Amino acid sequence: MDNRRKVILDVDTGSDDAVAIMAAVCAPELEVLGICSVAGNLPIDNTTENTLRVVQMLGADVPVYRGASGPLVAQLNPLRQDMAPRKKPVFVESRGRMVRVHNEYLDLPAATIKTQDLPAAMFIVDTVRKSKEKVTLLPVGPLTNIALALKLDPTIVNNIDEIIIMGGGHAVFNTTSAAEFNIWFDPEAAEIVLQSGANITLLPLDATHAASLSLDDAKALRGLGTKTGTFAAELLEHRIEVFSAMKQALRDDIAPVHDALVVCAAIDPSVLTDVRFMRVDVDCGGGYADGQTLCDTRALPTKPRNCHVALDADPQKFASMLLKYFSKS
Ligand code: RIB
Ligand code: CA
Repeated sequence: MDNRRKVILDVDTGSDDAVAIMAAVCAPELEVLGICSVAGNLPIDNTTENTLRVVQMLGADVPVYRGASGPLVAQLNPLRQDMAPRKKPVFVESRGRMVRVHNEYLDLPAATIKTQDLPAAMFIVDTVRKSKEKVTLLPVGPLTNIALALKLDPTIVNNIDEIIIMGGGHAVFNTTSAAEFNIWFDPEAAEIVLQSGANITLLPLDATHAASLSLDDAKALRGLGTKTGTFAAELLEHRIEVFSAMKQALRDDIAPVHDALVVCAAIDPSVLTDVRFMRVDVDCGGGYADGQTLCDTRALPTKPRNCHVALDADPQKFASMLLKYFSKS
């Protein structure tokens, strides 16, 4: 009896997405049914190529499905998001050169493996419909593919065990003064998912920043002497350098690895240390707060509660889980 948790990753790879993919594939507790790419950190061609590069490096027999090339509607109105322009991406000067959180291509050999023919949203619908056990979705980029799947067949909610989302912010934001990137990039998709009736756990920046990893953690990952440990260390060191230059971390020697925390939470929820059942909605108004996750913390929220929100997490436990998963290869 295979009692591994069946998961589908949805990624906009991306440096932290790459760590999440490695953790999910290496963790013995998970069965990765497929990995879907989506536009977000980078255009769909880049996020897809980067996803393939990570899977290829792992030598993993995990299918990759190409997903949506942009948000559902957010980019149709040229004036939208001018009200609260996101901080200009994305380069910042560090040590005499321009750097960015997500390089166009991961520093891995170009992919020779290919994506499957089926579009990502259709893979999600088909796989969830056919699975004999409930499937867990792990979206760590904009929620476009997940929303499309739920619109194609809303009944798949009945065979979804949990949707664990990296996205949103309660008191921590990164893209505008009110929004986190994954949600800001496709607010309507996020609202569709939040209203779907699925069992949702949201990991906003409040949790992922609380679980920030340090240069010491990077040193420990390198010390594993494995390709996954070394690559994770390279990505973490890069993120720490850029976050320090952007002044986006609480200290100069740490950085969040947002997406990998979702994978660890899918394996051991105790890595999240303050989880509250709330009503959350997304502002799709196109104004200053476009893409904000409005967390109703009142004892009597206006509308029914719809997701469990993690407001804190344990960096030591997070680091120890990654060290375990990257210790083998
Ligand atoms: O805001 C952080 C999120 O945006 C992460 O998923 C990162 O990869 C980017 O997609
Ligand atoms: Ca991501």
